Amino acid sequence: QLPKQVQIKEVGPRDGLQNEMMFIPTDDKVNLVNQLSETGLSYIEVTSFVHPKWIPQLADAVEVLKEMKRNTDVTYAALVPNSKGLERAIQADVDDVSVFMSASEGHNKSNINKSIDETFPVLKEVVDGALAAGKTVRGYISTVIACPYDGYTKPEQVVYVAEKLFDMGISEISLGDTIGVGVPTQVDALLHEMLRHFSAEKLAMHFHDTRGTALANIMTSLAHGITKFDSAIGGLGGCPYAKGASGNVATEDLLYLLHEMGIETGVNLEKIQKTALYMEGIVGKKLSSKLVAIARGEEGTCRI
Ligand code: HMG
Ligand code: MG
Repeated sequence: QLPKQVQIKEVGPRDGLQNEMMFIPTDDKVNLVNQLSETGLSYIEVTSFVHPKWIPQLADAVEVLKEMKRNTDVTYAALVPNSKGLERAIQADVDDVSVFMSASEGHNKSNINKSIDETFPVLKEVVDGALAAGKTVRGYISTVIACPYDGYTKPEQVVYVAEKLFDMGISEISLGDTIGVGVPTQVDALLHEMLRHFSAEKLAMHFHDTRGTALANIMTSLAHGITKFDSAIGGLGGCPYAKGASGNVATEDLLYLLHEMGIETGVNLEKIQKTALYMEGIVGKKLSSKLVAIARGEEGTCRI
């Protein structure tokens, strides 16, 4: 029995744009978020408050949040790695703070310059500060299937990190297949283990689509009762500190799959397709999703 309703968490402005080679002008980012805000999405991850030397693409985080038009039906989120980032996030009045770390040592070190055990106290400070400031807090665990440095990740290691994060008072954890290599049997094994410890409502899935398996992995997750999925407009995305990682599952392709199966999202697919076309103009290249190709007029005789 598949869920009747799913929430999509749009991460394109953050996960998508952090991985583009060029700096997208602030006005274009603001336009993107403004368009996404009118599509029926209830959650948009706008940017991140990481060190601008590590991710120069998102150095204008405060400006984007200040200049964009807020829709009161939308929760606006941003990644925050430490207290320094939290100060800026609070200054920019973000609604939801997302802390992040990896299940594997290699990626954690490469991405945030700390061991796993050194990371917990840093995140605890962020979570305490964010909750005290009235924010909700989400946690990401990256490399839940495999790590570009350490190989396959054991589900028990993901449980270990998740337990520590939930103990801090985080409301939801998003499990990331950061390098997009996972297959349904691996997702099945991971969720089987995770759901012995945590309820499905507290978990979201975050699939990159490097090997074209993201939608298959989402089907497996749906069968486990997961109802929250991260995706990126146009299939943009990737982590500069995970070599070979490509884009997230595309929001429009995910919407097509869900809607055709009768699963509600509240998101307007046509508006998302239009926004994906707009993004092609901004990043100056064709985006990889199937549904943006259709919006471009390449549907041939396949239109229904
Ligand atoms: P560090 O160099 O170890 O930081 O970086 P530090 O604490 O030693 O501080 C060094 C200097 O940086 C200090 O300045 C700090 O003030 C400053 P100084 O005193 O030398 O003048 N600093 C900052 N400045 C601005 N904003 C900050 C900040 N923090 C310290 N927040 C750090 C540690 C975590 C900051 C760095 O490694 C970093 O920014 N990493 C972020 C990498 C990143 O953004 N990766 C992509 C996002 S994660 C992802 O994509 C995966 C995900 O999508 C899920 C999935 O797919 O699996 C979420
Ligand atoms: Mg990601």
